[in-house]
Amino acid sequence: MNNNLTTMSRTANLISMEDEFGAHNYHPLPVVLKKGEGCFVWDVEGKRYFDFLSGYSAVNQGHCHPKIVNALMQQAQQLTLTSRAFHSEKLAEYTKYITSYFGYDKVLPMNTGVEAVETAVKLARKWGYSKKGVQEGSAKIITLEGNFHGRTINVISFSTDESARQGFGPFVEGYINIPYNDLNALSVALEDSNVVGFLVEPIQGEAGVVVPDNGYLRQAFELCKAKNVLFIADEIQTGLSRTGRLLACDHEGVRPNVLLLGKALSGGMLPVSAVLADDEVMLSISPGEHGSTYGGNPLACAVAIASLEVLKEEHLAENAEELGAFFRSELAKIGHPCMMEIRGKGLLNAVVIRHDDPQAAYILCEEMMRRGLLAKPTHGDKIRFAPPLVISKAQLQDAVVIIKSALDILTYQHCLFKLLQNRNVGVFL
Ligand SMILES: Cc1ncc(COP(=O)(O)O)c(C=O)c1O
Repeated sequence: MNNNLTTMSRTANLISMEDEFGAHNYHPLPVVLKKGEGCFVWDVEGKRYFDFLSGYSAVNQGHCHPKIVNALMQQAQQLTLTSRAFHSEKLAEYTKYITSYFGYDKVLPMNTGVEAVETAVKLARKWGYSKKGVQEGSAKIITLEGNFHGRTINVISFSTDESARQGFGPFVEGYINIPYNDLNALSVALEDSNVVGFLVEPIQGEAGVVVPDNGYLRQAFELCKAKNVLFIADEIQTGLSRTGRLLACDHEGVRPNVLLLGKALSGGMLPVSAVLADDEVMLSISPGEHGSTYGGNPLACAVAIASLEVLKEEHLAENAEELGAFFRSELAKIGHPCMMEIRGKGLLNAVVIRHDDPQAAYILCEEMMRRGLLAKPTHGDKIRFAPPLVISKAQLQDAVVIIKSALDILTYQHCLFKLLQNRNVGVFL
């Protein structure tokens, strides 16, 4: 009993400490983590959970992968930051490694995902003016409804999610927004000769793992090519083996003109992002026109090389492909009436929860948490299931058992929900 009281107060104390001193820009589940290994994380009470979010697909290689940790530690004792005022041994090695890994002429290293997106926008505009012949100041980029590319003012300027935009205007111009998965709308938008780029997530992750029709990416690529428009693939969430191929675009044999990577490029160790393109595009940017103090730092380069090596050495794309299909079929077998749709590719999956209680997906996530699995709803009624790609079939089976038992409780909880409305939800929300 005493033990219980101590452990409960430890979690509650840490949550209230963060609540008091940290900004309120997130809405986490009430769990406080302190350790991770492979597909598991542990909370401050020592309870173990399956991590089915993987840091929004940053931890594809599993938590604290020994090879990546080792690369980080070795490099941390050598040299961590030079700035780009000087060359570094690791940056040279990394640029060669990553460009041959993905088959591009050049890489431009940045840190966060949104910086890679910003870089792509600048690159496309500069290319448009210097190579395509668009009049300076008139370039446009086609973006898609339901997109998520990050949180800067420029990037939320083309978001269609009002909660991401409201109260943050004025916004940046130069974007044409069209529906996702709509080739006709793309054809019409491409008629504008000021269009320089088409920015697309091969699967819309934050929107709730929205998978476009087969052939959409390939045909969109062909349409862009015909109009001399750069096909810019944001593979920050879908890339690096997550969907069962190295890149989600590989499912349709599409080689983007501009490729954006982030998240798992460091296996969850530190923010590392990259923009890859061929010379014709990349050399549109000259010294002094773009950069970042930390972009391409030796520590990030060493970690990124190790992270990319792990993807191949451990056949993580193959594992994601095989286990993803298994996972979806196991979920389908549960046949719970609340699971309206199960969708995804590889180990990037989501279920859509049908329930008259708008909080149902959140309640289900709380229940899974109690039973040892962490996942988070997106856009209210969708729950993303994206475990680290190192998960084994047996572990995935155990996770399915947890999901199934939590689902059984949902209906029951819903019946009780009205009675429980007066509970102290503060801890949970
Ligand atoms: C597709 C996509 N692009 C860009 C970003 C932004 O990345 P970051 O949060 O590292 O800035 C995200 C983050 O979730 C993303 O999913």
